Amino acid sequence: MHSLLLTNIQQLFGVREQSRLLRGKDLAILPEINQAYLLLENGLIKAYGPMSDLAELPETDAKVLNISGQTVLPAWCDSHTHLVFAASRENEFIDKIHGLSYAAIAAKGGGILNSAEKIKNTPETVLFEQAWQRLQEIIRLGTGAVEIKSGYGLTVEGELKMLRVIRKLKEASPIPVKASFLGAHTYPPEYKNDHQGYIKLITEEMLPAISRENLADYIDAFCEEGFFSAEETAAICTAGMRYGLRPKIHANQLHLSGGVQTGVALKALSVDHLETMDEAAIQCLAESDTIGTLLPTAAYFLRMPFQPARALIDAGAAIALASDYNPGSSPSGNMNTVVSMSCIQMKMLPEEAVNAATINGAYAMGLEHEMGSITVGKRANLIITKPVPSLAYIPYAFGTNLIDKIIINGALY
Ligand code: NIG
Ligand code: FE
Repeated sequence: MHSLLLTNIQQLFGVREQSRLLRGKDLAILPEINQAYLLLENGLIKAYGPMSDLAELPETDAKVLNISGQTVLPAWCDSHTHLVFAASRENEFIDKIHGLSYAAIAAKGGGILNSAEKIKNTPETVLFEQAWQRLQEIIRLGTGAVEIKSGYGLTVEGELKMLRVIRKLKEASPIPVKASFLGAHTYPPEYKNDHQGYIKLITEEMLPAISRENLADYIDAFCEEGFFSAEETAAICTAGMRYGLRPKIHANQLHLSGGVQTGVALKALSVDHLETMDEAAIQCLAESDTIGTLLPTAAYFLRMPFQPARALIDAGAAIALASDYNPGSSPSGNMNTVVSMSCIQMKMLPEEAVNAATINGAYAMGLEHEMGSITVGKRANLIITKPVPSLAYIPYAFGTNLIDKIIINGALY
């Protein structure tokens, strides 16, 4: 039996007897224990409490790690990434510096189509190796669970290739991985004027093949002007739902696309991005069980207005934070940056940001029973910070690496 006892934890954050999706004022409550212990056994959280109760703990042969002065948080739950890709796109980064917009770059064959071209010629083994490095990188940055999308294949073979890479990551990964099928990321050039033809390819060829190999957990679509309309998004998601894939969609990034309303009507698990929101979209989301996943580093990288986090929280919407790690709009999977940016630019309180990036992120990928909080029986994926004066110091000291150690499945990583 493998066990580890953390002692003298200055602050143990995210302690919950039971978890629930947080919204409204509850998002600002991050329960903590000062001067705490935490016992990990067989990869899971076994017990926790104040140091003064440690004597009551039954005899254990656990290895003791005294982390006096340091803080423990549940690991980040990054519920939206595209971390399987074949090549970086810093040439487009230069185009953007010269003034081209994301939509303009996409219109001239860059963007998603650029990544799709690169994927075509990259063997599965190479894709896996590159993605594996990125996965290692984000784990070291504190990510303890991640969702990964396809969407750079855009052909039956290409999408299957990406999803098989994600499945291999799932099998090899020490952290939970969820897969979303994003065949509806953009129309491939040969279907530019034949939307129904591509939708047919998705629904009649890709989905059955994906289902046969059980390659996806969720269905995604980029609901956006110039990409997939609300009606097209609904048709694709409805087809996915017939195969048991719940929608998690890209909505309201560049325009009021109707993506939020479409996602809510389909009972999507989440609608993600939300840079472009009006009162109707905010109200619609607030009155639903769909999670609004905010991707501030994508807004930052594309020089877009940040997501209206305050208006969403105050209206009562359940929100999560994620990195959107991808080569075009967020070439970073650093959740510490995401948390910091959400406080600095979106006026989220540190407690709200941590909850949105942990427990609500866990809900946004169906992992609420094993991730997102310090709860007995949950997976012991944790961040041990360097000594910090307070929780607020973590987002405040942006750019400083405050992670001292990572614990994955109850062991030092
Ligand atoms: O979430 N917006 C659509 N998809 C990605 C970007 C994909 C890309 O540019 O490669 C996003 O931002
Ligand atoms: Fe995305």
